[in-house]
Amino acid sequence: MFSERIDRLTSSLIRELLALTQKPDIISFAGGLPAREAMPLLDLSELPPDLSQYGTTDGEPELRAAIAAQLVGLGLRCKAEQVLVTSGSQQGIDLASKLYIDPGTPVAVEAPSYLAALQSFRLFGARFEELPLAADGIDPDQLRHVIRRQRPALVYLIPTFQNPAGVCYDEATRAAVAEVVRESGTPLLEDEPYRELVYEPVDRTPLCARLAENDTWMYMGTFSKTGIPGLRVGYIAASENVHPYLVRLKQSTDLHTNRIGQWWCARFLHSRDYPAHLERLRGFYRERRDAMQAALAHHLGDLADWTQPSGGLFFWVRLQGGGDTRALLVRALERKVAFMPGEAFFANPDPRHGAYMRLNFSHATPEQLARGMAVLAEVIREQRGIVKTAEPVGMMEI
Ligand SMILES: Cc1ncc(COP(=O)(O)O)c(C=O)c1O
Repeated sequence: MFSERIDRLTSSLIRELLALTQKPDIISFAGGLPAREAMPLLDLSELPPDLSQYGTTDGEPELRAAIAAQLVGLGLRCKAEQVLVTSGSQQGIDLASKLYIDPGTPVAVEAPSYLAALQSFRLFGARFEELPLAADGIDPDQLRHVIRRQRPALVYLIPTFQNPAGVCYDEATRAAVAEVVRESGTPLLEDEPYRELVYEPVDRTPLCARLAENDTWMYMGTFSKTGIPGLRVGYIAASENVHPYLVRLKQSTDLHTNRIGQWWCARFLHSRDYPAHLERLRGFYRERRDAMQAALAHHLGDLADWTQPSGGLFFWVRLQGGGDTRALLVRALERKVAFMPGEAFFANPDPRHGAYMRLNFSHATPEQLARGMAVLAEVIREQRGIVKTAEPVGMMEI
């Protein structure tokens, strides 16, 4: 028999449908894949041979120092010894789940939240307390209320260009949320994979930078969105009362993160071209974000609502008057267009979630994007029983 937690490893119909999106003729708005052409070159020609040996669990010293220096620059009180290099930030989520969650443990999450974090928390038995996301972030008073009533073991937040909602908390919300976390002493897990993919000036100060010396925090970052996701290098920096436990958990998980990827990431951070690379990346994705905004406005303006994100990789779209985006996906896939139905991003089920979908804009070219959006508009109209007619101009309900 398997362990009792295996019963909570739910297989998802959506995942199965999305397996189809690997086909080359599909226009995919589904994944969160960075564009291949925007990635830096993977040059391993100067790889030192001594990297063939086992490394330390914490990570390569040069990389840990570079990450700590970056975090200090963002306002965190973080020494290199507090940085644990992980196999992608996804592993940080797994380690934090193992550290904090038993069956029935309350965990506070945004609604919607990152699907693979919810899956990990769920596997360990989390009971979810949802914090609805608005355009400026979660409501700090609601967080205070949830903490007082439910005593969550962990608050998991993605304040900067959230996945899936694209939301970036504003400055006042960041300050107020950090204050609630501080006064309650609740451990905070802040996940920031998208912070460098910024297209307009907005406040991006990490919440962890607003916490005090003796607060309990974990801050995760990754090289997947700015560098090369296939290398699987991320990190979790943590307050001194937490870091040693994360290291021991990682020891029993994979001993250490691959040293080749760590070496490449340290060189990448130190390279003279790094700031220019980030600028090019932002320009590239800004163009795609703008292309999706234009395609949405053109094709879905009378069918859906959304807010243009100022960073990250996603639009979060709500069908006007509700809908069933899972059924819509089946129809869209028949027409070779894929997207993520929104319901999977909510911890607790609610029929109203059927109105949402997440659209990624980094992967498809602007031409594919326009074509895909036209198809999406057609299938939404078909699903609603609305067809476009040649005359009179406009839409007709049938
Ligand atoms: C919010 C969030 N956290 C974590 C991850 C995991 O990233 P990685 O493991 O590639 O660093 C992702 C990936 O898309 C994400 O969107």
